[in-house]
Amino acid sequence: MFEIEKIKSSEGKDLFSSDIHYLPEVDSTNKYAKSLPVESDLLILTDYQTHGLGRMGRKWESEKGKNLTFTIIKHFDIDPENIQAVNYYFNYFLLACLKNYAAKNIDKAKNFPVFEIKWPNDILADNKKMSGLLIENPGNKNQFIIGIGINVNQVKFPGEFEDNTTSLKNIIKRDIDLNELIIELLNIYDKNINIILKKKYKMIYKLWKDSSGVIGKKIEFKDSKSKRNTGKIIDLQYDGGLKMKVDGEFKTFYSGDIKLTAKKSEPFKE
Ligand code: BTN
Repeated sequence: MFEIEKIKSSEGKDLFSSDIHYLPEVDSTNKYAKSLPVESDLLILTDYQTHGLGRMGRKWESEKGKNLTFTIIKHFDIDPENIQAVNYYFNYFLLACLKNYAAKNIDKAKNFPVFEIKWPNDILADNKKMSGLLIENPGNKNQFIIGIGINVNQVKFPGEFEDNTTSLKNIIKRDIDLNELIIELLNIYDKNINIILKKKYKMIYKLWKDSSGVIGKKIEFKDSKSKRNTGKIIDLQYDGGLKMKVDGEFKTFYSGDIKLTAKKSEPFKE
């Protein structure tokens, strides 16, 4: 149960110019966002999505009342060649917020997980997915629909997700106040919004790229037609492309999924 007044009153001034729509249940907050005639910026928050959407036409399943599932409608005056900066911004600061929240709340004696970005915008903790973004830019080139799903208090994940998914609770071993977490996240977005507004796109790209653990790694890549390629990641390009070396040839992909074929294990550095 969200305390909307508390969230509204702790919000910074720059991020949302108008309102929060709180829906106890909705099919998908991104779908709902696209159905609105609004021209202003908005936050849409729900306890439960009946048909949550993931990237590449997949579903996003999330237990009722346990997690954060929300959409930010935000307008940015940004030209097409810099459009990926929106992804870099929302992805990087989501990672920073989750890592910081875990660092403040975890028993420091234990090994701190490796938090990193997995291209294009997943957040992993020790190689397990904690959060995903679905960013859409329908019709209006300045309006972005930024859908964010974070596994917070859910501890079990069904079927195929069981082994490769995690949550903040799985890491810090206690329940997390969803109001507190979303307030922290909105504040970090708000405090840093000038990076985008002042068009410091290369800076946010660098922060994002440096937080990705995949460069130089051997991976398996599955494109949108489910074709598999195995190779090494050479670069994450500024235009959003994933540059790989496959069978001695360089290839760049713009949409798809990667799977690491070797594990990374590194101590946390603050
Ligand atoms: C992915 O990793 O595939 C992206 C998942 C995005 C899920 C969020 S939950 C809130 C918003 N509404 C949706 O229907 N999807 C996004």
